[in-house]
Amino acid sequence: MNKSAAKARIERLRELINDYRYHYHVLNESIMSDAAADSLKHELTLLETEYPDLVTSDSPSQRVAGAPLPGFSQVAHSTRMLSLNDVFDEEEVIAWIKRLAKLLPASAEVEYFVDLKMDGLACALVYEDGILTHGITRGDGAVGEDVTANVRTLESVPLRLRIARGHEQFSRGRTEVRGEIVMYKADFRRLNESREKAGKPLFANPRNTAAGTIRQLNPRLVAERPLHFRAYDLLRQNADEVPSFLFAYQTMHALGFLTNHEATVLNNVPEVMHFANEWEKKRPHLPFNIDGLVIKLNDRRLYAMAGVAGKAPRGAVALKYHAEQTTTKVKNIFVSIGRTGAATPVAMLEPVQVAGSTVQMATLHNEGEIARKDIRIGDTVIVHKAGDIIPEVVEPLTRLRNGSEQVFHMPKRCPECNTELVKQKREEAVWRCPNRSCPSRTWKRIEHFASKAALDIEGLGEKNVIALLDAKLIHDVADIFTLKADDVVQLDRFADVSANKLVGAIQAKKHPLLHRFIYGLGIRHIGIQTATDIANTFRNLEAISQATIDDLAEVNGVGAIVAESAVEWFAEKKNQQLLEKFRRLDVWPETVKKVGGPLSGAHFVITGSLQSMGREAAAERIRALGGDFQTSVGEQTDYLVIGSSVGTSKLAKAARLGTKQLSEEQFLKMLEDK
Ligand code: IVH
Repeated sequence: MNKSAAKARIERLRELINDYRYHYHVLNESIMSDAAADSLKHELTLLETEYPDLVTSDSPSQRVAGAPLPGFSQVAHSTRMLSLNDVFDEEEVIAWIKRLAKLLPASAEVEYFVDLKMDGLACALVYEDGILTHGITRGDGAVGEDVTANVRTLESVPLRLRIARGHEQFSRGRTEVRGEIVMYKADFRRLNESREKAGKPLFANPRNTAAGTIRQLNPRLVAERPLHFRAYDLLRQNADEVPSFLFAYQTMHALGFLTNHEATVLNNVPEVMHFANEWEKKRPHLPFNIDGLVIKLNDRRLYAMAGVAGKAPRGAVALKYHAEQTTTKVKNIFVSIGRTGAATPVAMLEPVQVAGSTVQMATLHNEGEIARKDIRIGDTVIVHKAGDIIPEVVEPLTRLRNGSEQVFHMPKRCPECNTELVKQKREEAVWRCPNRSCPSRTWKRIEHFASKAALDIEGLGEKNVIALLDAKLIHDVADIFTLKADDVVQLDRFADVSANKLVGAIQAKKHPLLHRFIYGLGIRHIGIQTATDIANTFRNLEAISQATIDDLAEVNGVGAIVAESAVEWFAEKKNQQLLEKFRRLDVWPETVKKVGGPLSGAHFVITGSLQSMGREAAAERIRALGGDFQTSVGEQTDYLVIGSSVGTSKLAKAARLGTKQLSEEQFLKMLEDK
């Protein structure tokens, strides 16, 4: 980016970040997620690093923001409450350490004190002769709000320091303990559930709730909300009394504070990265939210020696975890044709990391969605992963536009086969390519048939399917069963072993489970659960192919649209020919045996994700034992299995209906016992 473009971009970024900060810190509300804001701040910092003369003292990168709210009296902090510079990966950690090394004596033995970075609000507790005198929010770092009456209601805040052997001096004179006030995820869930019941508006996340609560003017309300103070810093007038962060944590613990027992001393970057990766994986199972790690020089003399740059100490950084949300640019929008012919606009993005993987494409769903969100080519957009898997554009940041953005128009013809796209009355939003032989539709049908939830044929992914089609070795799904290793091996992509392996994998699936086969056919509206319901009712493919709309609509979970779609599929001549071909090739799904298993009659719903297995695997285990797997909690649900990161709606409904709740452990035990 040239300098004048950078300047314009910097100005727009600053304006938006400032707005975000004002809403967040002063008004206690959020105009975008922290992760999205972090990503913008990171972009700003990078641009300012590239063009240092564009840095101004009022840039959001240069200050600790957040004016105190009126209503609390204001108290000056003894020493400024700083914040931390962010780093995002190993390379940036190494760069930090290199910068740091220049500031420290060459002989310094460097150890790192590493802790989880909790997602709450910072608070300073002041003790005079061991007695709590002040609880102060961070405010703007120099002056905070006096929330003593509120923090006194927190059970985790000692009102008097414990007298611990060897630590007596901390109960003499002034001791300050800083830490994070957090609300636990489970408490947050419960709080929102009861608010939902009472018809009150729901809180956005645990951190906002904690922040909002601590700044309540009525301490009684605070006492009703479960908040926890977790300590991370210990200050004394004579800094030598606290030689290291490890010592600080041990002392705070002895004085009666909650500290993270995960915090530890590490010696080098590989150890730090290993620790970071482990906790990133275990993050969903922690009781509170974290957004990364805090890495500090353990030796406080070295830490002090490194000094402060702007708003942050040089001796510490926040290693931020992969954001579940970030910002990037829409480079282009193209149309992808799915196996049912649906023409889906897809955004091509400048590659970014979202929740641990690189994202360069995101579905825009349909024309209407693009118009509703007003997403344009060239826009800076917020992207996230829906359900943590499918990348999605949340919204464009319209204020970052510079006028060069272009509105997207849906093409009139299929970009793959040039057939005119059509729109069906029933589905206003969706354009389709009606050509069944459209190359894009064909390879996606085959890829779907071979996919994990369908026939699960290893080696038959997108690239191989396209190669086989291009070589005219196959023309439709059934043809894969005619493949010979001798033919496959002719293709560039294959060698002897891989060709044999692929043909073997295909042949092994000649008699698949009925529900997998039905799902694999790719009939519109028939997902794996519906396919299972249909398979369990009709028990063989012949019966399904002859079922009427009424027969199908009888099946639990099958509505009119699904029933019609299935009947339409089986009535189509080309599909009948396809089934004939399968039969000739001796490819036919197994008949479902009636299972009267040990879980028969029991209906299960799973909320959140399980640690031990995926949802579909859990569903298959339940079904294999004769139980029924449902997707939503209803009157007949017997058990709600609760995984991690659960949403509130299923829990609330289960609570209302009195559905029995099972932890993952209890659920596994139930499966084992059977
Ligand atoms: S040490 C110079 N340790 O993160 C501040 N901070 O961006 C050093 N935080 O304001 C703070 N968990 O509120 C430290 N284990 C932890 C933390 C932690 C969360 C917060 C803290 C601070 C912010 C820095």
